[in-house]
Amino acid sequence: MNIRVLFVRRPVGWVDESCFRIESCDEPACGPGDVLVQALWLSLDPYLRGRMNEGSSYAPGFALDRPVVSRVVGRVIESRNERFAEGDHVWGFMDWALRSVAPRGEGLNLIDPALGRPSLAISALGMPGLTAWTGAIELGRPRPGDTVYISSAAGTIGQLAGQFAKRAGARVVGSAGSDDKVAYVLEHCAYDAAFNYKTRDIDDALHETCPDGIDVYLDNVGGATLEAALRHANVAARFPVCGMISTYNATEDPGIKGLQQLLWKRIEMTGFIVSDHLHKLAAYQARVAPWIRDGEIHFHEDIVHGIERAPAALIGMLKGEAIGKRLVQVA
Ligand SMILES: NC(=O)c1ccc[n+]([C@@H]2O[C@H](COP(=O)([O-])OP(=O)(O)OC[C@H]3O[C@@H](n4cnc5c(N)ncnc54)[C@H](OP(=O)(O)O)[C@@H]3O)[C@@H](O)[C@H]2O)c1
Repeated sequence: MNIRVLFVRRPVGWVDESCFRIESCDEPACGPGDVLVQALWLSLDPYLRGRMNEGSSYAPGFALDRPVVSRVVGRVIESRNERFAEGDHVWGFMDWALRSVAPRGEGLNLIDPALGRPSLAISALGMPGLTAWTGAIELGRPRPGDTVYISSAAGTIGQLAGQFAKRAGARVVGSAGSDDKVAYVLEHCAYDAAFNYKTRDIDDALHETCPDGIDVYLDNVGGATLEAALRHANVAARFPVCGMISTYNATEDPGIKGLQQLLWKRIEMTGFIVSDHLHKLAAYQARVAPWIRDGEIHFHEDIVHGIERAPAALIGMLKGEAIGKRLVQVA
């Protein structure tokens, strides 16, 4: 019997487990040209919260009573399509189900075994990694000696972005929501300084950790952290806006105070969405895969086991319980 996770209720404010239902269902049929995939890892990403709302943000909203969809890595267990062979590792936007069919193989991407463990295709060497590179390097343009500040430093994007900025010669400062996360980025992710934004006054902490001001702020959280970063920014700072997770479960837009700093300091603040940069994925993988393979770049996956635990694992990730990239391993 197959098992899948349905999205059944739109949350107002914080998402909880009543928004999902786990059910047994028939095995999918693999018709001519189709590919049957056994799911191995489900990617849990903050933007999935936006997809639970009515209407769309930059990704379309989920339909009610339909399976949750995210990036999934799987193994081909039956192929009636010449582009895929049994045993191939693939990734695509697939249902949260143990087994799914990709009609005519559409949307499936073969994973090059040379990239390393297959889960990297939806983590460090996939869209999250490309996001970190685009934000920290291409839009941040850190120069040797610059101070780069990164929020959600111990998360998927943050752990990579800090190491990329460090390789560019910057001094890297991070904030995260627990002392364990602070210790993690200092010990493993090349951060020069870091603080717990839940136990420190953010202004005091930025004053202490960024004595020369902020040249690049990679914003993953928005809200009060962005407001503080604006206050501590240098003239001509770059602010790539990657995400604003502090607002994703809010029922009202809290707004951002202090935007006049953009003008006074001639700050370049640029929102970006990784899907506009996908043409650079192969070049990104060619550059970063050897760094990961050789251990020059550290990348931690926080694995939760079992498809039944996927809703709780997603909610927990949004609440900050994961260190690194959270995945659900289903087989
Ligand atoms: N622009 C794009 O194309 C793109 C692509 C991927 C991701 N993103 C965005 O990038 C950001 C990071 O994504 P990710 O995948 O790397 O997630 P992540 O950092 O691995 O996980 C989310 C983290 O957000 C932090 N968080 C939750 N609520 C917060 C709050 N109120 N204030 C501050 N931090 C809070 C938590 O860490 P703490 O314990 O530190 O609070 C949590 O662990 C998200 O905003 C996401 O939407 C954008």
